[in-house]
Amino acid sequence: MAVLQKIRDILSQKDDSEPFEPAPPTEYKIKVATLDRIDEIYKVHQKCFKREERYSKSIFNHLLSSPTAIGYCVFTSDDKIVGSIFVTLEENGVGHISTIGILPEHRRRGLAQRLLSHVEEMLKEKGLTIIRLEVRVSNIPAQNLYRKLGFAIVQRLAGYYSDGEDGFLMVKSL
Ligand SMILES: CC(C)(COP(=O)(O)OP(=O)(O)OC[C@H]1O[C@@H](n2cnc3c(N)ncnc32)[C@H](O)[C@@H]1OP(=O)(O)O)[C@@H](O)C(=O)NCCC(=O)NCCS
Repeated sequence: MAVLQKIRDILSQKDDSEPFEPAPPTEYKIKVATLDRIDEIYKVHQKCFKREERYSKSIFNHLLSSPTAIGYCVFTSDDKIVGSIFVTLEENGVGHISTIGILPEHRRRGLAQRLLSHVEEMLKEKGLTIIRLEVRVSNIPAQNLYRKLGFAIVQRLAGYYSDGEDGFLMVKSL
């Protein structure tokens, strides 16, 4: 039965390409991501990414428990999570964005920009000097976001993703 339920859960998960209604206006707050909200963080992530691009729950477990990873979530005024960002702190003074996603119905409200700016301020306070990330060559919305915030493409990563798609390495000096 548990296996059947899992299959049902997987089939009922929406892709980010499905139609959606914009959410009603609300106030948003950014707060640190905590392990006690892992189920919600994971569900939101699944709704943000296509099936083949999603992280497993164990990756979130790691990101939420590791002393070298920090995450932030966007919360609505009624304490619902609508997006998140996770960054790992590397020994060479580099912060690496592992994932960022905003629920489709809350997009184009400046939330990803706010999350990234929040992370940049935190990294600067910790004395890190560079922030880096990888992005699919087909992901124009994300590339636009990063370019808007001052990231530049420094390398094309051939076959970087598991489905064979190339990635771009994007970097910004803090
Ligand atoms: C990419 C993503 C995080 C952007 O989130 P968002 O909260 O909608 O982004 P913002 O509102 O902060 O947008 C900031 C800027 O990014 C760019 N941008 C964002 N979405 C865009 C889109 N659909 N098309 C073109 N440019 C876009 C624009 O320059 C935008 O500035 P503008 O609104 O003044 O034009 C969101 O679309 C998402 O979750 N996508 C799926 C997950 C994903 O691809 N993550 C990145 C993996 S590398």
